[in-house]
Amino acid sequence: MFKKAQISAQTHLYRSGEPFKTGAVILDLSKVNFQDSPRIPYFEIETNDKETNLIYKMQKDDVVYGLGETLGALNKRGKIYQFYATDDPLHTPDKKALYGSHPFMILDGEKSFGLFIDYPSEIIFDIGFTHKDYIKITIFSKDLDIYLFECDEKLTIIKEYFALTGKPYIPPKWAFGFQQSRWSYFSEEEVRYVANKYRELDIPLDVIYTDIDYMDGYKVFTINRETFPNYEGMVKDLAQKGIKVIPIIDPGVKIEEGYHVYEEGKMNKYFCVDKNREDFVAAVWPGLTHFPDFLNSDVRKWWGRQYKIFTDMGIKGVWNDMNEPSIFYTPTRVQKLFESLEKAKVEENELGQKLSLIQEAIKNIPNNREDYKSFYHKLDDGTLINHDLVHNLYGLKMTEAASEALKTLLPNERPLLLSRSSYPGLHRMASIWMGDNMSWWEHMLVNIRLLQSLNMMGFFYTGADIGGFGGDASPELVIRWMQLGVFNPFYRNHAALNTRPQEPWQFDEESLNIMRDTVRLRYALLPYTYSEYMNSVKESEPFIKPLSFVFDGKKEKDIEDQFMYGNSLMVAPVHEQNKKGRYVYLPDVKWLNWTATKFEERNMTVYKPGDYYIEAELSQIPLFIKENNLLVLTEPMNYVGEKEITELWIVGLVTSQAVYTYYDDDGLTYNFAKGEFGHLKIEILKESNDFKVQVEKEDPKNMIKVNKIHFEIYDESGNVVKKDMII
Ligand code: GLC
Repeated sequence: MFKKAQISAQTHLYRSGEPFKTGAVILDLSKVNFQDSPRIPYFEIETNDKETNLIYKMQKDDVVYGLGETLGALNKRGKIYQFYATDDPLHTPDKKALYGSHPFMILDGEKSFGLFIDYPSEIIFDIGFTHKDYIKITIFSKDLDIYLFECDEKLTIIKEYFALTGKPYIPPKWAFGFQQSRWSYFSEEEVRYVANKYRELDIPLDVIYTDIDYMDGYKVFTINRETFPNYEGMVKDLAQKGIKVIPIIDPGVKIEEGYHVYEEGKMNKYFCVDKNREDFVAAVWPGLTHFPDFLNSDVRKWWGRQYKIFTDMGIKGVWNDMNEPSIFYTPTRVQKLFESLEKAKVEENELGQKLSLIQEAIKNIPNNREDYKSFYHKLDDGTLINHDLVHNLYGLKMTEAASEALKTLLPNERPLLLSRSSYPGLHRMASIWMGDNMSWWEHMLVNIRLLQSLNMMGFFYTGADIGGFGGDASPELVIRWMQLGVFNPFYRNHAALNTRPQEPWQFDEESLNIMRDTVRLRYALLPYTYSEYMNSVKESEPFIKPLSFVFDGKKEKDIEDQFMYGNSLMVAPVHEQNKKGRYVYLPDVKWLNWTATKFEERNMTVYKPGDYYIEAELSQIPLFIKENNLLVLTEPMNYVGEKEITELWIVGLVTSQAVYTYYDDDGLTYNFAKGEFGHLKIEILKESNDFKVQVEKEDPKNMIKVNKIHFEIYDESGNVVKKDMII
């Protein structure tokens, strides 16, 4: 039986039993009034002792959006999705679950509504897979909160979702610069070499990562002093060059006597426990470890304090990984393997059967559900809860520990904070990247779709491992992915151990030159990206949107590999091998096409709505500026903040009037929340043979240093008028 409460004019909460307080919702629900509600609109409900099922009959043309970090099409129809956070490094199309759990969907059809299930363990969404016309959602519990957003508009549903769960995270401005990583740069020398190489080759760079090998024996919060004798010196020297160093942090604490994190955790009973109340043991990178009990606030505070060793060195961000939590094996699982081996041996099986028994036993070792069921958290009120029931919260709570600590350790500074696993709510304090993809062309399309579906969940600042993480990458793939990366708010080239190096200089001269121009283009777009990002957060509207969120029409709903990056720019990346162009659909309005190679070359063509084949050589990216909307560019620099932005280039196709509200602030602190930001209201009016331009500055705190604006305004015949303005 459900109880119903009104949350806003368009949002209702349906509660069953006694749900666990996940922290996803920011509203205080203690005072809401509940009434009994035998039903939930739109859905049929089927319950039994163990599960709750919600069933919805779809119409032929209904489209389902959302579900965040899941594989498959952007329209989620025709597949089963499982929310149970898992470290699966092989993102093949058959996979149902990834690292995050995002049970928020939008039904877009004759009837439209949004649904968010706040429940932290397994949920299955069967969206027209078993039966093509039915959605069946199975929650393996009777204790859950369901939020129903009854709005016609997709964007309003998302606004309501953000009103409930909070606005997206705002990174520092330098986090919009280019970032380089590898598992691993094995020494301080190597990190310095890579960073310096960027400067030598004039390729902009803002961040370099140190992956697990900077640690001493993979012990979290330690440094291998043989290979990184002066980590802090490296951080300082690179900071001088405008490059930030970000370390990876894993939750598993190595079991090793004398190791301070282990000793403190053990002494204070800060680790998750097994059924005998002994510290739970599972293996990750360091071998056998204990897992900090992040569901407990004392543990979060303790863990948070550990980040001080990094902030003392001048570090401005962290990369939380393996926090599903990933389990390579447990002693129990290994024991079971031996038993299976014995069984395989003694039974009168054929050799082939023996082999498959062994293979099956090995396959079940990592991330085994039985292991997740075998440990417990101690909540603040002293009660013990089985991990399996709150599994999807581990990454969120680890990241909350970091986020809260960094507020004190870096007062009034915005950190770059990343997590691999996530649950709704994490989007307020940090963001996620898309995990361990492969250097496959198919994974570029996955990247494009995830950008859109993660933005719907509030993960605006997201991106994939550019060039692909696993496997070897060809120069062509890295170039095309670097081009797509220009439009990943989190823009990081990262690759796995034993794979072909994929920094821009690892191939040939031509590839290097293309990649340099590509990264410089990202920096040319910085004023636009930052301004649009900040406006998106303010408006509670996804920063990256599918075409169907902006334009009505049937065809728009089918286009998944073109997307709106901010409100002015549509990106149509080339994501297939050996392609010298691609088909593009231009909806509704006229578009100014820039098949971009570099900032300095801006050859524009005007297109009417329709279908086109757009040529794009290896160095070119098909971009389209929407009619009567403007793109804001500046001259690229080596890193964000190297120079003040004093000149802007405003480019657009203006057939009547275009207005752009350019935003800027200090890019580093939260002072924008106290009104320390500025606006330039840029207006272009089409007059018979000319354009009237006007710029109004509203900048009481002097946040905008622009003193010159270059206008490049196109008319519908493609003629350009150039004007300069001193402001
Ligand atoms: C995990 C992460 C990956 C990282 C690796 C080693 O696979 O997803 O990004 O490089 O661990 O730390």
